[in-house]
Parts: sequence; C-alpha cells; structure tokens
Amino acid sequence: MADPIKKVAVIGASGNLGKEIVQELLKAGFEVTAFAREDSQSKFPPNVTVKRVDYQSVDSLTSALKGLDAVVSAIATVAIGSQTPLVDAAISAKVRRFIPSEFGINTRIAGGTAIGNILQGKVKTLDYIIGKSQENPWFTWTGISSGIFFDWGLQFGSVGFDKRTKTATIYDSGDEPVQASNLPFLGRVVAAVLSQPEKTANQYLSVASFNPSQNQILKIVEAKTGEKWKVEHASTAEQEKIGLEKLSKGDYSAFSNLLRHRIYADGAKRAVEGEDNAIGLLGLQEEDLAATVEKWLDE
Ligand SMILES: NC(=O)c1ccc[n+]([C@@H]2O[C@H](COP(=O)([O-])OP(=O)(O)OC[C@H]3O[C@@H](n4cnc5c(N)ncnc54)[C@H](OP(=O)(O)O)[C@@H]3O)[C@@H](O)[C@H]2O)c1
Repeated sequence: MADPIKKVAVIGASGNLGKEIVQELLKAGFEVTAFAREDSQSKFPPNVTVKRVDYQSVDSLTSALKGLDAVVSAIATVAIGSQTPLVDAAISAKVRRFIPSEFGINTRIAGGTAIGNILQGKVKTLDYIIGKSQENPWFTWTGISSGIFFDWGLQFGSVGFDKRTKTATIYDSGDEPVQASNLPFLGRVVAAVLSQPEKTANQYLSVASFNPSQNQILKIVEAKTGEKWKVEHASTAEQEKIGLEKLSKGDYSAFSNLLRHRIYADGAKRAVEGEDNAIGLLGLQEEDLAATVEKWLDE
C-alpha cells in the first residue's frame, strides 16, 4: 500500500475553483500550501501555508514543492501553459501526484474539433504529464472533467438564466442533459481523489453533481418564483456558426459559442450518468439540483 497523501500544493488557490478546493481539502484534513504569483494580491485563510512563486522558474518551484505529496492545479485558463515547469519541478521535488487544471469538458475526447483546438494547452499539458509518468512510474496523475461550473454559471449567467430579468435562454429543445458540477463538490472530488491514491492513479475521471436539462432548471425557477419566466429560444447550430466565424478571425471568445453547441445540442450526449460518473468510484453522491437552484435564487 502506498503512503497516504497528506501535504498538498494548490496552484491558483485564490481562484473561483481554487478557493473551494482549499476549503474542502482543509475540511478533509489535508495540509494545504497555496501557491500564488509573486506579485499577486490574493489573500488566503490563516490555516494555509502561502508560497509566492515564479511559475517560469523550475528551481523556485522545486524548492517550494519539496516535502509535499501532491499538486492540484486550478490555475487560470490563460496560464494553462505555465504548468509545464510545475510538472518538471514536481518530479524534481519527488511529488507523487499531479492533478492538472482541466475541470471542464473532457479534453481527452475533444480532439479534432474546433473547441478541442482551443483547449490544446490543456491537452498538451496532460500529454506531457502522462509521458513523464511513464518515464517515472512513481509520478502519477489524475485528470478531472467537471462539465460546466453550475453554481458559478448560475451566478454569472453562463447557464442561460437571469434572475434579475427572469429570462431563460434555451438552446434547441432544452431537453438535452448536461454534465454540471458545483464548485464545493469539485473540492470534495479532489479530496476524494487524493484520499484514494491507488484507485485514482493515472486516470481521467469525469464527474458531475448532476446532469440537468435547461427545461428542468426552468421548471425549478418557475416553481420557486411562482412566475412564468420569459424564454428566449436559440439554436446551437447558429452558436456553432458564430463560434467558427469568430475563431477564423482569431477571436477566442468563440469558446462560449462552441461550448453551447457542444453541450446543449439535441442529441449531444455530453451527460455523465450512471457508471460514467466517477462519483461512484470516489464514494461521493449526486447533489440536489433543486436545492442548488433555489439557493441561487435566494442569494
Ligand atoms: N467548467 C467550467 O464551466 C469552467 C469555468 C471556468 C473555469 N474553468 C476551468 O477551471 C480551471 C480554474 O479556473 P478558475 O476560473 O477557477 O481560475 P481563475 O479564478 O481565473 O484563476 C485562478 C488563479 O490563477 C492565478 N492566475 C491568474 N492569472 C494568472 C497568470 N497569468 N499566470 C499565473 N497565474 C495566474 C490567480 O492566482 P494568484 O493571483 O493568486 O496567483 C488566480 O486566482 C481552469 O482550468 C479553467 O479552464 C472551467
């Protein structure tokens, strides 16, 4: 039996996802070291060790990682490429597990698509990690696909529901189930992965708090508010067209349009249900969709 993982570095620990991962790791009893850029103004909880690092310097990263068991990266999308020196440093420092900043669509099956091309930084990083793990079998990895950030997406409008104007944007029929995860749930997923290092070594896991369709969400918001919401219908084919046009001009805001097509199109089949949802392997439960939506409405 391998030694348990106890000491964990969280990269991007001040971010939307990073701060939830820190909280859930602390609750699960891990010792957490938060990494931040040298010029970062980020604040961290008192029971966390903070290291300001230069993400370009393998030497600086190696000394910061010495004595730690695992790296969890929740670094910002724009900084995905800076994980390669981190991987090299993790190996030099003998860190045993690396969880890269994936946390979205399953990048292992998006190859050859326009959205897959936008996510090349994530794909290349994980390919690099897998190569290093094959050379150094003690160095292991876990990839985590989460689908959409659901609680965050409700708050920031990316799930298509606006509680201020009581408007829903429904793509195609609105009946397609979609892989979706709440941020604290993802923190618990990371804790469960690190608590079971043998079971989760060298695996790409897809998880979901639940797999709601947009019409299910609409039903919940209307029941809770006691009002009919204004529904604006949109087509995912149109979203794809807009996304491809933007991409041809080098405009990477195409991602949101292409994502809507990828996940909401009728028959897209991006839900992660039954045995495909790794919560079973991790010993976690699905979450309550209505409770999540109602909490957002109450806030
Ligand atoms: N599935 C979804 O719906 C969804 C939505 C959003 C994001 N994501 C994914 O989730 C992961 C984390 O995203 P997030 O939104 O939580 O990240 P975020 O909040 O945008 O950023 C996380 C942290 O990264 C650090 N950072 C920012 N810019 C950086 C730079 N240029 N170089 C180095 N560090 C930088 C910052 O920490 P310091 O200032 O402390 O250094 C920041 O707090 C990413 O892989 C992203 O693609 C998924």
